[in-house]
Amino acid sequence: MKSVAIKGVKEFEIKEIEEPKAQEGRVLIEVEKAGICGSDIHYWDMGNPVGLVMGHEFCGKVLNNGGRSDLKVGDRVTALPISPCGHCLACNTGNPQYCKETWTYATGLSLENPGALTSKISVRSDMVMKVPDNTKDEEMAMVEPTAVGLHAIHLANIKVGEKVLVVGGGIIGLVSAMFAKKEGASYVAISETNKARGQKAVDLGVADAFLDATDEHFQDKVMEITKMGFDVVVDCCGTSPAVTSAIMATRPGGRVILVGVSMTPITIPTVAAVMSEIILQGAIAYTKEEFQTCIDLIANKQIDVMKFVSKIISLDEVQDAYVELTSGTSDSIKILVDPKKN
Ligand SMILES: NC(=O)c1ccc[n+]([C@@H]2O[C@H](COP(=O)([O-])OP(=O)(O)OC[C@H]3O[C@@H](n4cnc5c(N)ncnc54)[C@H](O)[C@@H]3O)[C@@H](O)[C@H]2O)c1
Ligand SMILES: [Zn+2]
Ligand SMILES: [Zn+2]
Repeated sequence: MKSVAIKGVKEFEIKEIEEPKAQEGRVLIEVEKAGICGSDIHYWDMGNPVGLVMGHEFCGKVLNNGGRSDLKVGDRVTALPISPCGHCLACNTGNPQYCKETWTYATGLSLENPGALTSKISVRSDMVMKVPDNTKDEEMAMVEPTAVGLHAIHLANIKVGEKVLVVGGGIIGLVSAMFAKKEGASYVAISETNKARGQKAVDLGVADAFLDATDEHFQDKVMEITKMGFDVVVDCCGTSPAVTSAIMATRPGGRVILVGVSMTPITIPTVAAVMSEIILQGAIAYTKEEFQTCIDLIANKQIDVMKFVSKIISLDEVQDAYVELTSGTSDSIKILVDPKKN
């Protein structure tokens, strides 16, 4: 079957791969929609591992239930891409997201388990979630990134009236801003180097203001708005300038939630964090409960994730989409892939 696989640095190839077979303990799924994630961009940037078929955000139909008696052929499902061991401290305390094994065999992030940039995938049956009939495939392919934002905002523990800055206006930043508002933040700003994306965050109604991260007076603007700095800053970018700006924009005693990922170590101003006793909190993925909550919030129309979907493309258009998403000027947010589209 046709797939999109990493070939080299910033380069995909369209590749024939073997179809996964029905197997006990794994659900065979026909992919309807898959999302392109900012994390996938890091792998594409590095060109590594060669042969990786990405796509850890998806919705599809059950082809074989692999022994999950509550699922039948044709049921619509999504899944957590993670692969927790099930018996370590993290797993036993309801935190499979930081189980040491969870990413080793993750769907769409490991060579062993190809992701959804193809027509059929095989997923660990305990990670598969049935989705309500009144939802669209596009919406259910958005559950995974939405759950990342929900988890980050749960960890941020925002109190009603707090002021929040989100650094980076990609999908993770936008859903984080959306949930910060839902948690009672009185003011949510988004900082961006890409002006089109920053403005879009305001236009979509998830942020009260866009702060230009390239503005040399950025820090002065932050202090003008907040007096002492933001109560909470959520970094959804992960680069050194981004995390530095996050720390500098936080009030003394405030919290920085680190969601953005850098594949290599970065430099940050620890002195500023130390002198102001800033709390740095990492946030990775989501719990199963948070994943289910996002399915419910979308199905119950309590949140609208379709406004973040910029377009739906074919497998042949994936390479161009990555080029667009890394241009630094495009206002596209989430690009979904439909493997059936020509
Ligand atoms: N922790 C997790 O569980 C988790 C899950 C998913 C994604 N991520 C990571 O979160 C980050 C965001 O994901 P995404 O899909 O939204 O990615 P994205 O690439 O679409 O968004 C990142 C945004 O940051 C902006 N940016 C770059 N430098 C900036 C700066 N100095 N200040 C402000 N903005 C800046 C970029 O213009 C871009 O719009 C990525 O690093 C991704 O790997 C983490
Ligand atoms: Zn993702
Ligand atoms: Zn574990």
